[in-house]
Amino acid sequence: MITLNSSPIHAVSWKLADELSVSIDIKRDDLLHPVVSGNKWRKLKYLIEDARSKQSQHIISMGGNWSNHLHALAFVGNELSINTHAFVRAHKEQSLTPTLNDCQQWGMTFDFTSRKEYAELRQERTWDRYHEQFPNSYWIGEGGFSELAIQGVKDIACDVKKEYDYIFVGCGSGATLCGLAQAFPSSRIVGVAAFSGAEYLQPQLKKNIATELDNWTLDTEHHCGGFAKAIVELEELISAIELNNDFKLDTVYNGKVFYALKTWLESGKLPLNSRVLVIHTGGLQGTREV
Ligand SMILES: Cc1ncc(COP(=O)(O)O)c(C=O)c1O
Repeated sequence: MITLNSSPIHAVSWKLADELSVSIDIKRDDLLHPVVSGNKWRKLKYLIEDARSKQSQHIISMGGNWSNHLHALAFVGNELSINTHAFVRAHKEQSLTPTLNDCQQWGMTFDFTSRKEYAELRQERTWDRYHEQFPNSYWIGEGGFSELAIQGVKDIACDVKKEYDYIFVGCGSGATLCGLAQAFPSSRIVGVAAFSGAEYLQPQLKKNIATELDNWTLDTEHHCGGFAKAIVELEELISAIELNNDFKLDTVYNGKVFYALKTWLESGKLPLNSRVLVIHTGGLQGTREV
């Protein structure tokens, strides 16, 4: 059983936004659950339900050494007595990160893959070769991207009663951005890509959002050098925001959302009196030191 806490919305204290008469609220999905926090349960819930209804013996997915998605999946698998297995882009010889260590404690098993194999799996083209190894298994793609994950994110609309002009969120696979764009057709959803070269996501997002909806923007300018890369300006901004507020930000996703927001504010891209909502998608487990 996964029991969720509430995810309040409250104002962000930020002098820059006040000076520009832009109001910024944050939705604290990071508080939803100590492990399956942020967008994790939203993306996983219908997938897990589907896997259980198909009586799958294994749920298999993929991710990196610090994957929030694998971390959440392993926890849920353990709670609900479902076997989990992950293809991890890492060297066999290297010691497990705290993230993978937790996953292992929760019963997840691993196959470590080269970059090339990982890229092939990402396309799902080579998944067939594993069917014998894992009969009756349920496949969840990288970051959980799927119709069912998008469906789960859409449920967030039930919790948001106020109207927002802009909703900012971190973007990896893009499932969360797709769900938000569908859930809030009268807001502009800005997905801040956490990695470089995210432009390739555009057609996939377009296809999964609904062709008639043009209420979203993929911001590809604030990845700070690439996935899990940080720059001094990002770290300084995170410290300043944390100093004046009672939430923490990870450098991989949510910190970059604020970094993008800072540029949008400074460059006047957010009109006077804009109402902005940031979705805090969690990810704080990945900030642990090795
Ligand atoms: C903390 C956090 N925020 C945002 C995202 C991006 O979500 P999506 O893959 O749905 O774009 C992820 C990745 O799953 C994440 O772990």
